[in-house]
Amino acid sequence: MVSTDYLVIGSGIAGLSFALKMAHKFPDRTVCITTKSDAGDSNTKHAQGGIAAVSDLETDSFQKHISDTLVAGDGLCDPSIVGMVVRRGPERIKELMSCGVPFDKGKNGQLALGREGGHAESRIVHHKDHTGQEIASTLLDQVYGRHNITVFEHHFAIDLITEYRIYGTKPSKPTCFGAYMLDQNTGKVRTFRARNTVLATGGIGTIYGHTTNPSVATGDGIAMAYRAGAQIQDMEFVQFHPTVLYEGKAGQSFLISEAIRGFGAYLRNQKGHRFMPDYDSRAELAPRDIVSRSIDQELKKYDDPFVYLDCTHLNSKALRVRFPNIYEACRKRQIKLETDWIPIVPAAHYLCGGIMVDSNGRTTITNLFACGECSRTGLHGANRLASNSLLEALVYAHNIFEYLGYQKLFSPSVVMPEWEGMGVDAIQDGNPVGQYRDRLQLLMQDDVGIVRSTARMQKAIKQLDTMYSEIEELYRTTKMNVALCELRNMVHVARLIVEQCLRRKENKGGFYNIDFELVRNV
Ligand code: SIN
Repeated sequence: MVSTDYLVIGSGIAGLSFALKMAHKFPDRTVCITTKSDAGDSNTKHAQGGIAAVSDLETDSFQKHISDTLVAGDGLCDPSIVGMVVRRGPERIKELMSCGVPFDKGKNGQLALGREGGHAESRIVHHKDHTGQEIASTLLDQVYGRHNITVFEHHFAIDLITEYRIYGTKPSKPTCFGAYMLDQNTGKVRTFRARNTVLATGGIGTIYGHTTNPSVATGDGIAMAYRAGAQIQDMEFVQFHPTVLYEGKAGQSFLISEAIRGFGAYLRNQKGHRFMPDYDSRAELAPRDIVSRSIDQELKKYDDPFVYLDCTHLNSKALRVRFPNIYEACRKRQIKLETDWIPIVPAAHYLCGGIMVDSNGRTTITNLFACGECSRTGLHGANRLASNSLLEALVYAHNIFEYLGYQKLFSPSVVMPEWEGMGVDAIQDGNPVGQYRDRLQLLMQDDVGIVRSTARMQKAIKQLDTMYSEIEELYRTTKMNVALCELRNMVHVARLIVEQCLRRKENKGGFYNIDFELVRNV
């Protein structure tokens, strides 16, 4: 058994920054970070755009950032949370800079600020077009330098340990005592006992056929928290990023950052028409849900598989300097940004909902915290404003750190049971896990995508129910393996999404059901 003061599950920006702060302030306390893959493999690494934060008070203000966030969220943000996060943003950026994150600067030595959809001002702090990668590697280097942080790579969190596991009881407010982890190096399940557990497990993109997310984004934290009895909310607000490279195949797709539209790129349909001004006066810089829905309409109108992003009118040298990663990815595919339009489609990108937390990152389970994409804070409402995600992750990691810093360490006086193995059978022939995964991704893509209908979602939930019981049976009888555990989590999360979609009776932000009026495009 591993015992620790703070168990952090997930190694993206949220988990790493919380761990570092705690370990630095309390050198006599221990922090364990577990991750199911390599520590560097997180959604954070793929974040291109940057972090939205007010840094130029001559042109920008907290009020403007607050207002942009509220407008994007379509009336469902929690205004007090929006104000808190926006105001605490600049301090968090300064901390990252003092950690050594090399944000781009202008000639005057001030931060170079990018612009993205839904933002009235340029306020995106970035490092070229691979901001997330820079942040993740800087934080990870520091984590490895701390004596009181241990990183457990290739440890898959199977389930949280609550009273249910210990006494078989289900109190109305459970307490978390740690988690069971499948050590993929040995194939054994290890018990992690923790005074506090922080879920920082990221998103759910992989439940869709087309996504910007890496394959590790299987909703593990949300599914575990749900099974342990935590409140999960706003799952119907899955955000579809308007522009991912179209390559005619499903799976993880290459993101073409929104910042490129902020730089002046146009969206054109296959007839060459720049269509966004027909849908919204903010054109390409309208909030994401509007741009994705408009693209979806264009695709359906002409029965086309993709539309285009046109950068040919932009200064090509400046484009290359600001977006080297995108430039290179396109070049490798024989797309020259100077002369060619980029074929793009929208794809699942970000979950605005998740595990309900308060402003200190506390879930509805005692001693269980959540931050980053797996959490639902109230910042995003029905549609996240571009580049507010890393901001939220940083602010909440800090809030949890501050909150726990004032708390006495909780000493659980329970005997932790070792994991009781589920099944023993070897996986059957024919890779049923892969087949279920494909079916799930297709179902979510077709029936719970950008444009939804009650009838299709009712059909989807029936199929999910069947899949759910078949997979539970497989889980009970089969030897523990990561692919199966991920599949189980994906189906739990998909089920929650559809269930919460069916409860929503009006369209808001990223949720659009054709059976209700669309009032967003005003
Ligand atoms: C992007 O660069 O377009 C993604 C940034 C975000 O999702 O906020």
